[in-house]
Amino acid sequence: MFLPLSLGRVPIGLPVVQAALSGYSDLPMRTIARAHGAPYALAEVVLDALVLQRGKLQRRILSVPEHDHPVGGQLMGSQPHTFGAAARELVRAGYDVVDINFGCPVNKVLGRRRGGWLLQDPTTALAIVDSVLQAVAGDAPVTVKMRRGYDDSPTAEADFFAILEGAFLRGVTAVTVHPRNVVQKYVGRSRWEFLARVRRQFQERTILGSGDLFSPFDVVDMLQQTGVAGVTMARGCIGNPFAFTQVQQLLAGRPALVPTLRQQRDALLEHWRLAVAFYGGEAAALSSVRMHAIKYAQYHPSPVQARERMVAVRSPVQLVATVEELFDPALDQDVAKVLRREDAVVPAMSAGDSCG
Ligand SMILES: Cc1cc2nc3c(=O)[nH]c(=O)nc-3n(C[C@H](O)[C@H](O)[C@H](O)COP(=O)(O)O)c2cc1C
Repeated sequence: MFLPLSLGRVPIGLPVVQAALSGYSDLPMRTIARAHGAPYALAEVVLDALVLQRGKLQRRILSVPEHDHPVGGQLMGSQPHTFGAAARELVRAGYDVVDINFGCPVNKVLGRRRGGWLLQDPTTALAIVDSVLQAVAGDAPVTVKMRRGYDDSPTAEADFFAILEGAFLRGVTAVTVHPRNVVQKYVGRSRWEFLARVRRQFQERTILGSGDLFSPFDVVDMLQQTGVAGVTMARGCIGNPFAFTQVQQLLAGRPALVPTLRQQRDALLEHWRLAVAFYGGEAAALSSVRMHAIKYAQYHPSPVQARERMVAVRSPVQLVATVEELFDPALDQDVAKVLRREDAVVPAMSAGDSCG
């Protein structure tokens, strides 16, 4: 029913991928997402200038292990030449795709003329696209992430289309559109009609959709209602890597299954193990994994109590004990539970902590 997705010469397959998620989509999250069916995952957005420095953080960003493919590296910045140079570093490090962030609505980012701010400045935005394409020199597909405009003015709409069309004409492989505007941040819904319009206007191009994909049903609906080639799942897969398997189940005409407590426990404990290795110790991994665990709690059969327990975690020992107690397989039912549309969780997320 849906064609397998590809990003230029990078085959992806399942048309639902894991979005770039600042503060979340580190190597451990991407590894867990892949283990549950995500065919492609984007790393957290990173500042171009940061990639060009030398240090521990850069070494971490620029080390792409063999099992983390295909992976997209996403850049943010305001100067075409540093953007291009950083893109080249990402490709050299082994990223399969370079993604350009023209969507971040965080005030600090806008104040520095980065992210979503660039949607108001097609000249600089397209100079960045040129610089990245030139630096990458065909060694990896270049993609762009955009909101539907800076605000809802006619000028903002014209700027959006100037950047979109200009990017494709210059050789960008795919564009992900999150059809909220920058000013609205996360208030109000994602306008899927706009996505359908973009898709109609750019039939020959690869358009991916984003926004309000909280359950596997939403993913199938977006694919059907807008005709996009694929979607990037964001809030809906934090604490819920099972979403990818559930989409596979629905696309195969089967019911989507609710993960068992055992599956949730195993995923979280594996995430913990990966994070301890990635961050270099239990103390260093704790805050990141605790954040993910709080998100997993939203999908627990008693989400309010589970969240309270996770929020109270203060030490590695307490984290593991709490996960084992809350997600105790002995409490699993014998029969697999089918996910119903009305039971899908709408994840809580404040507007302040997001970057696209
Ligand atoms: C915590 C968080 C971090 C995000 N970080 C990024 C990012 O680094 N790069 C990006 O392009 N979008 C980022 N986004 C935006 C998402 O990729 C997505 O476009 C947006 O959340 C809309 O999808 P949703 O409504 O299904 O969550 C982030 C969103 C959230 C909630």
